[in-house]
Amino acid sequence: MSVLTVSLAENSYDIVIEHGSLPTIGERCAALSLSGLAAVVTNSTVSALYGGIVQESLKTAGFNTVLVEIPDGEEYKNSATLNNVYDALLDAGVDRSSFIVALGGGVVGDLAGYAAATWLRGIPFVQVPTTLLSQVDSSVGGKTGIDHPLGKNLIGAFYQPKLVLIDVATLDTLDVRQFRAGMAEVIKYGVIIDLPFFNYLESNLDKIMDKDTDALVAIIHRSCELKAQVVELDEKESGLRAILNYGHTLGHAFESLSGYSGMVHGEAVAIGMALAARVSEARGLCSSEDVRRIVSLIERCGLSVSVPEFEREKLLKSIATDKKVKGGSITFICNSGIGAYAMSKHTPEELLQLSGLEA
Ligand code: NAD
Ligand code: GLY
Repeated sequence: MSVLTVSLAENSYDIVIEHGSLPTIGERCAALSLSGLAAVVTNSTVSALYGGIVQESLKTAGFNTVLVEIPDGEEYKNSATLNNVYDALLDAGVDRSSFIVALGGGVVGDLAGYAAATWLRGIPFVQVPTTLLSQVDSSVGGKTGIDHPLGKNLIGAFYQPKLVLIDVATLDTLDVRQFRAGMAEVIKYGVIIDLPFFNYLESNLDKIMDKDTDALVAIIHRSCELKAQVVELDEKESGLRAILNYGHTLGHAFESLSGYSGMVHGEAVAIGMALAARVSEARGLCSSEDVRRIVSLIERCGLSVSVPEFEREKLLKSIATDKKVKGGSITFICNSGIGAYAMSKHTPEELLQLSGLEA
């Protein structure tokens, strides 16, 4: 078992990473002095796989439980689904002495976390992430929210969980496409913060892709540790935390052009990271060999860096609606060599040029 602490004064919490830890959720919630009714928010897919184990564990630890199931998919991370969750919480009598368990991938974690942040002006919640992406990124750091028809994650709150419980065994049932997508975020940490971790990924990729337990615990631990360090320094993203958006500016733009159906988040980030590496090279921040290593590691995970066909004006508009745009310029995250980041401001047009998307 491996335990990390995200140190945020009174909002501090542990991240527990262990193979087979799902049945311990009840006793861990009891140890945190959580009380009352436990509302397990999950989706139809994850509910069928793990809803029973989690509810059983909570009941054994003395909690009453209610299962709140949402449909599966990013297209349901919206205000209509959130309202249905509120209705279910009301029906079940979830009051200020109750808490929410977010059981699922990043969609469930973001939406259930936002429900916890807003229901009765905030009730406690715990994150039980079940995708690689949510285990290495979205469950840590307190970003919660839903999508707006005009943009992803436009509505939300910074709201920290009381615990993140990561059961690596849940990845056994995750399909290979989602597993690969999660690897994009893992590689991200190596590229922008940690060269030895990048080297480790290069050397151990076969074991990781085979879901070797020790290798999985190692990469999830290091990813969470790196993310926690950034969040501890800049919880509300006034500066440094923006480095975690490496690969996301252009990735998000392509994801949004695909209507969020053509590619999953991590696949978009993979394309965005390859483009960010090219921007970095064009700005003299890294060598062509660095770009080659980054692209090669992404591709070895089974992720594509091929840029989908796009209409220039639509892409520019999409980049310009990014939350990080101020006064027409966007704070863009580059890699400095491998293992360090650099920030700079560019217009969307400059980004098209620097990334080689436009000659
Ligand atoms: P997801 O939540 O849609 O999960 C992907 C698919 O895997 C879903 O079909 C889900 O039902 C299924 N699934 C989940 N766990 C499973 C398991 N153990 N076995 C089998 N199937 C399983 O996608 P995701 O990649 O986990 O998360 C993407 C979301 O996370 C996006 O909405 C993105 O905006 C958000 N995100 C948030 C943050 C943050 O800091 N809050 C960071 C990154 C991404
Ligand atoms: N995934 C980016 C962040 O949590 O800040």
